[in-house]
Amino acid sequence: MKKTIRDFDLKNKKVIIRCDFNVPIKDGKIIDDNRIVMSLNTINYAIDNGAKVILMSHLGRIKAEEDKTKNSLSLVSVRLSELLNKKVLFIPYTRGKVLEDAINSLNSGDVLLMENTRFEDVPGKKESGNDIELGKYWASLGDIFINDAFGTAHRSHASNVGIATYLPSGLGFLVENEMNNLSILNNPEHPFVVILGGSKVADKIGIIENLVTKADKIIIGGGMAYTFLKAEGYSIGKSILDSESIDFCKNVLAKYPDKIVLPVDNIVVKEFSNDVPNKTIKINEFMDDDIGMDIGMESVQLFLSTLENAKVIFWNGPLGVYELSKYSVGTQKVLEKIVKLNAKTVLGGGDIVAAASKLGYKDKVTHASTGGGVTLEFMEGKELPGVVSIMNK
Ligand code: 3PG
Repeated sequence: MKKTIRDFDLKNKKVIIRCDFNVPIKDGKIIDDNRIVMSLNTINYAIDNGAKVILMSHLGRIKAEEDKTKNSLSLVSVRLSELLNKKVLFIPYTRGKVLEDAINSLNSGDVLLMENTRFEDVPGKKESGNDIELGKYWASLGDIFINDAFGTAHRSHASNVGIATYLPSGLGFLVENEMNNLSILNNPEHPFVVILGGSKVADKIGIIENLVTKADKIIIGGGMAYTFLKAEGYSIGKSILDSESIDFCKNVLAKYPDKIVLPVDNIVVKEFSNDVPNKTIKINEFMDDDIGMDIGMESVQLFLSTLENAKVIFWNGPLGVYELSKYSVGTQKVLEKIVKLNAKTVLGGGDIVAAASKLGYKDKVTHASTGGGVTLEFMEGKELPGVVSIMNK
C-alpha cells in the first residue's frame, strides 16, 4: 500500500503537490478544465490542513525556446484561483531566487504555482530525462511531496519520480481515486465488454492483447475499425488505415473470431469536412474515394445489443470523428445507452472523456479517467513509475 496525503501532518509544512494541469488550450483559452477541477480535492485538503502549498505541473511538450510562450501555466493559475476562490501566487520560474523567496514567504494555507516544469527541457531535457540534480533541487524546496498527477504517472520525470526520491512522499486523492476506479477492470464481473475507438491500432496493440483475454466482447469503432475491416478483406476507400497493423488485426481476428465486433455500416463522405454531403453504406459498399467518418445506425444497433447485458464496460476512443458534430452521432447513441444500463462504466483516454463531456454524459458514467496514455498503460498491466516511486505505508 502506498502512503497518501492522509498519512502526513501537513501543518506549516511546505507541501509540493505535483498536479497534471496539462489542459487543452485554444486561442489563449482553456477549453476543458476537467483536470484542474479534479485536482481541487487534494489542494483544498492541503489548504484546510494548514500546508504551505507549492503546486507543480507540466503543460504541453517543450522542444524549443519558442514553445514556452504558449505553454505558460499562468492561464492555469487564473482558472485555479477562480475554482479555489483564493489567491494563487504564480511564479513564472522553475528555479532561482524569486521562486525560493516566494516559497519561503508562504504562510500556512497559501497556494503557489510555479512555471511549467517542462521549461527545464530546453536546454537539456532535464525534466523529461529525470535529471538527478533537478529532482534534488525541487525536493529541496519542500518538506513533503504529494503526487496527484495521474495523467503523468507513466512518465519517469524529475517532477514526479525525481522529487519522490528525495522527500517523504504520498499519493493525492485524484491518483488514489483513479487507481481504485480503474481496478474495477482488473478482475471484472462478466459480461465484460470493451469498446475501442480512436485512430491508430498501433497505439492500442498492448491494450488489445491484454483485454482480449479478459473481455467477453471487444467492440471496435472509430478510425481503428478500418484497419480491422481491411484485415477482414474489405475495401475501405480512403478511410484512415494503419497499414503496419494489418497483420496484427488478422491474427486477433483469427484467434478470437467471436470476440471482435466490427461495424456493419458506415457514414462516408468524399471530402473530410462537416459541410459536404454524406451517405450511409453497408460495409462491403465502399467506393475508392469514400472516407469513413462514423458508424451507421445498423452498427449502432449491433453495438447496443452487444452491450445489453454487460456488467462492466470499458471504453477508450470515440467511434467516429466526434469533433465534427455530424459524426459524433454514433458515439453519442452508444453513450446514451451505456449510462442507462445496470453496468459499471469506465471511460479511459482523453478523447472519449472529452467527447462524453461535450455530449453531456461525463458525469453519468461510473468513472471518467483524467488520464490519456497512462490509462492505457495501466490497462496493459504496466507499472506506473509515478506511483511506484511513492513511499510504502
Ligand atoms: C497527458 O495529457 O496524457 C499527460 O499530461 C502526459 O502528457 P505527455 O504525453 O506529454 O507526457
